[in-house]
Amino acid sequence: MNVVVIGSQWGDEGKGKLIDVLSEKKDITVRFQGGNNAGHTVVVGDKVYIFHLLPSAILHKGKTCVIGNGVVIDPKALLEEIEDLEKRGIKVPAKRLKISGLCHVVMPYHRIMDSLREKKRQNKIGTTGRGIGPCYADKVTRCGIRVIDLLNPRILKEKLEDNLREKNEIFSKVFGQKDFDFGDIYHEYLDYGKKIAPFVCNVATYLNDEMDQKKSVLFEGAQGTFLDIDFGTYPFVTSSNTGVGGVASGTGVPPTRINRTIACVKAYTTRVGEGPFPTEFDSKFMEVIRTKGKEFGATTGRPRRCGWFDSLLVRYSVILNGASELAIMKLDVLDGLDEIQICTGYEYKGVTYKEFPMDFDVIANAKPIYQTVKGWKEPTQGVTSYSKLPKNAKAYIERLEKLLKVGVKYISTGTKRSEIIFR
Ligand code: IMO
Ligand code: MG
Repeated sequence: MNVVVIGSQWGDEGKGKLIDVLSEKKDITVRFQGGNNAGHTVVVGDKVYIFHLLPSAILHKGKTCVIGNGVVIDPKALLEEIEDLEKRGIKVPAKRLKISGLCHVVMPYHRIMDSLREKKRQNKIGTTGRGIGPCYADKVTRCGIRVIDLLNPRILKEKLEDNLREKNEIFSKVFGQKDFDFGDIYHEYLDYGKKIAPFVCNVATYLNDEMDQKKSVLFEGAQGTFLDIDFGTYPFVTSSNTGVGGVASGTGVPPTRINRTIACVKAYTTRVGEGPFPTEFDSKFMEVIRTKGKEFGATTGRPRRCGWFDSLLVRYSVILNGASELAIMKLDVLDGLDEIQICTGYEYKGVTYKEFPMDFDVIANAKPIYQTVKGWKEPTQGVTSYSKLPKNAKAYIERLEKLLKVGVKYISTGTKRSEIIFR
């Protein structure tokens, strides 16, 4: 079985924990898009690991982790992540980590461009500042540098020279910044190339061959459906296809080899960065849930915005990703509330919307229509069987299933590996 996990809100749904749990039973785990803008948290005992580029399965010895061509790699961040893990006793040998030579590389000018463009914008996106957007932009404008280029001094030289000729002019004339030095970047990135070389392989043929041998593969989505460059709340999105469509283009595994998609959601909603968020809480209640759910960005440490579960959003994500099941994370954060709201529609200028609208004006200004369900007082934290959940918690889950037209198969009831219900 080849399974995809897709974040079905605005990221940070708890994909790291879910992947950690599911990957134990899979042979290979693959990242297919995004870069080190992602922050996937895995808690093992009293240790907390945050993965940005490495698949969250790396903690399971003997499992293979793969970074597909759709991912953009900041080699400095990648090597630091590997080094940090090794310091903590987790070995990352070349036979456990495969990186596509076709991945585009985040360059120093991408990171700086990211923050300079943000500063100039009237409507800031609130990016993670990791250079993700500018790197994907160069990929599409066909001036990007790929991992395989770092292993070829002549090609790297030509591409970097071309890039700096253009970029240095933009930096000095548009942004009043000083020039980048060719030699510094060239030598720095050649050195990264040497260090990454042992991991580089043709991921597309590797994965298809392994699938021919009946190996099972788990695809780890980063970000979420509403940060998707096409289907998300554009322009407040990231620069990749975060949905299931990104798997084929981001790995070279054809869609026909994907068996199932799991939509991963939080029991409520969060968002980091700017952009519309119809079910966002008022500031007082936001503080309560943020504190309880420890809602601070795993990559940038920014406080996450929090709100009620939005079934319009998630239903759309279920459709776009063909999700056959749902994983609901952080249910325990809702423990102890008198009432819980579920958004089932939007209202704007007298029109009721039952499907996620395209018009930005509507998404940004609509008033959510809520169904109220009763909360529960008994703690759900650590509950591992569905029958032991409080009656109202089960009612909440079952209400969501009705609205989303898909079954809930996994329910996370805490940060630990063991705190999960398999239904
Ligand atoms: P995981 O994988 C939540 C958001 C940023 C910003 C927008 C664009 O942990 O769920 P970018 O740096 O990608 O150009 O920023 O996307 N963003 C995320 N929000 N979780 C993430 O990843 C995110 N990665 C990017 O906050 O609003
Ligand atoms: Mg995250």
